[in-house]
Amino acid sequence: MRRPVRIAVTGAAGAISNSLLFKVASGEMFGKDQPVILQLIEMPGRMEALRGLAMELEDCAYPLLHTITLHDNVEEGFNNIHYALLIGARPRGPGMERSDLLESNAEIFTRQGRALNDYANRDVKVLVVGNPANTNALIASRNAPKLSPSQFTALTRLDHNRAKGILANHTGANPRNIGRIVIWGNHSTTQYPDLHHATVLDEPVMNQIDFDWYQNVFIPKIQNRGAEIIEARSVSSAASAAQAVVDHMRDWILGTDAGEIVSMGIVSDGSYGVEKGIFYSFPVRCDYGRYQIVRGLDISEWGRERMRLTEAELLDEKAAVNHLLPPETEASHQNLSICLRSGVTLYADGTGPDASSKYLTTNRVM
Ligand SMILES: NC(=O)c1ccc[n+]([C@@H]2O[C@H](COP(=O)([O-])OP(=O)(O)OC[C@H]3O[C@@H](n4cnc5c(N)ncnc54)[C@H](O)[C@@H]3O)[C@@H](O)[C@H]2O)c1
Repeated sequence: MRRPVRIAVTGAAGAISNSLLFKVASGEMFGKDQPVILQLIEMPGRMEALRGLAMELEDCAYPLLHTITLHDNVEEGFNNIHYALLIGARPRGPGMERSDLLESNAEIFTRQGRALNDYANRDVKVLVVGNPANTNALIASRNAPKLSPSQFTALTRLDHNRAKGILANHTGANPRNIGRIVIWGNHSTTQYPDLHHATVLDEPVMNQIDFDWYQNVFIPKIQNRGAEIIEARSVSSAASAAQAVVDHMRDWILGTDAGEIVSMGIVSDGSYGVEKGIFYSFPVRCDYGRYQIVRGLDISEWGRERMRLTEAELLDEKAAVNHLLPPETEASHQNLSICLRSGVTLYADGTGPDASSKYLTTNRVM
């Protein structure tokens, strides 16, 4: 067996973690030969619930579960971690404005960004799940000057999986035979689920579905799926979110299937005209533990309008927390070609793709 990897999970006693931790411990995320150390983090008042969950994990006798540690603060919980799954966040309370929600989460993710900077392994990979996920990822990333922005991602894989599942049901296809769906933008109701590049059994999806259904039924259904689930079960999606976290991390670390595209919320490098420096969901492929934006997809004016709408929302969210973003990390988020650790330009040593490449490597050079 390999050396164990250290995984920190915040909000570890919450609903998503209740599904997720068992999948991680059983090897679903990083493979059946990868032992894991779980560093679980909760609010001080939730530590007893967390202790109960840890006992259940122990009782499963998972061969891959090396150690569990419990923490009521991130500074301790992030020590030496290779992966951070940031799930805990402040939920929207009664009478709370959107700007209040952004601000109270900004405090949490500022502290977490700093703690990652100071205590995590230098190659840590971070997934932000807690909402508003894209902007929380921005805040954490901007507060970690020693890490590259490309080490931070936000979860839009749930939206991607929802689109695949619902399309499979509509067409009668097996989800396995559906590929190249793209979620653009924010994990919110402004997201743009794009089927123009998608295929069912290698045939273009758009030839097989009615455009009216796509525009008036499918898109709003994906955009509002989260709310629909809350209405039906009074609590938000948890098991499907946990599955999406597994899929996101597994693809990032172990690579996407050949020819497949997945959606990840990542810092924009200006691809597709999206403003640099915000966390926006792009089509990506992963290999060698790095993601690459898939470039060169044809976007119609109709699609561009939707991409701009969700971009505008993310720019608004950024404006609402801008006073909390340290100016010292502005440049690194505007120019991803700078490698923060060594100061080497991404392409300077010839390791980057050439100008004709369809893919742009946005991770730093190691
Ligand atoms: N991006 C997505 O696709 C997606 C999907 C589903 C849910 N979410 C979001 O994920 C978050 C968690 O959802 P859930 O259903 O597990 O919620 P939950 O309320 O069941 O659990 C959240 C847990 O986080 C803990 N917590 C809160 N702040 C914390 C902090 N600063 N440090 C450590 N722990 C903290 C709470 O004590 C609680 O136990 C929510 O913000 C939800 O909106 C995102």
